[in-house]
Amino acid sequence: MTPASIPGAFPLTRMRRNRRHGWLRRLVSENTLSAADLIWPMFVCDRPADCAEIPTMPGVTRYDVAGAVAAAGRAQALGIPAICLFPSIDPALKTPDAREAANPDNLVCRTVRAIKAAHPDLGVICDVALDPFNSDGHDGIVRDDYVVNDESVEMLVRQALVQAEAGCDIVAPSDMMDGRVRAIRQALDAAGLIDVGILSYAAKYASAFYGPFRDAVGSGGMLKGDKKTYQMDPANTDEAMREVAIDIAEGADMVMVKPGMPYLDVLSRVKQTFGLPTVTYQVSGEYAMLRVASDAGCFDYRKIVLESLMAFKRAGADAIITYFACEAAAWLKE
Ligand code: PBG
Repeated sequence: MTPASIPGAFPLTRMRRNRRHGWLRRLVSENTLSAADLIWPMFVCDRPADCAEIPTMPGVTRYDVAGAVAAAGRAQALGIPAICLFPSIDPALKTPDAREAANPDNLVCRTVRAIKAAHPDLGVICDVALDPFNSDGHDGIVRDDYVVNDESVEMLVRQALVQAEAGCDIVAPSDMMDGRVRAIRQALDAAGLIDVGILSYAAKYASAFYGPFRDAVGSGGMLKGDKKTYQMDPANTDEAMREVAIDIAEGADMVMVKPGMPYLDVLSRVKQTFGLPTVTYQVSGEYAMLRVASDAGCFDYRKIVLESLMAFKRAGADAIITYFACEAAAWLKE
């Protein structure tokens, strides 16, 4: 459009007028970010040697159960509505069938019970996938060098059930097997766990941005091959829309797009098309990028983190899973 074709725009539209003062910028801002938008991913461990900072994620620590309870309380005090749990399992417990995932007394279940006992009003989300428990480092069960679908789903259902019985509020299947949302929903309902929600990692890409996470849960070194036969090709968007539509039809209460920053286009399209609660995951590699570059003096840490989080709100996220949750919530309180 030429300026003259915009009603009232002639001779010059002064867009800067609305940017002139801080109060005015606040008045006209289209999106807001608050602690209530944030979900904090926490790593938990059993072996004392593991309960330490993760080298590829400076500033992120694995907690033992007592430490996780205390940290969860700090998150809740900052106004964060929910946490999600990821376990670093003793390698001696990892097997090809990942049976430890279905042990009602496994690290995740013990942590859920302890956090829920101490902080009943903090939301607890459990990841459903076999990679922390599996000696092949895959999200499902490997047979003849292939991650098999239906047998994996059976184990994922058992994993989701023990997590729900331990008291988590939401199970979040991140495995990308076909049919797992329906199978988990049916099993939860049959067990009377009708109020346990499902946050489906519906559009999860086979991404190099997960590298530091695999160090954090100790699955990276074990991973044979890659996850391209079940996670999505970064080239595709239409396929993400089918994945989301299927998971909604199978009973997902919320859907996720993952990773975050490199996939804002997918997030925006999913939110605009389906309109249901849409979560984004600013993953470990995104955390590492911003954190390590800030430590090296490239960025103002606080500004870069808050800008990245606002980008998710602008793209349509209802909630953001981020390793920055506690720091960001504290800054937003000031
Ligand atoms: C496991 C899982 C992964 C992440 C969350 N759940 C890793 C993977 O799929 O390899 C990544 C999270 C992150 O990078 O922060 N299914």
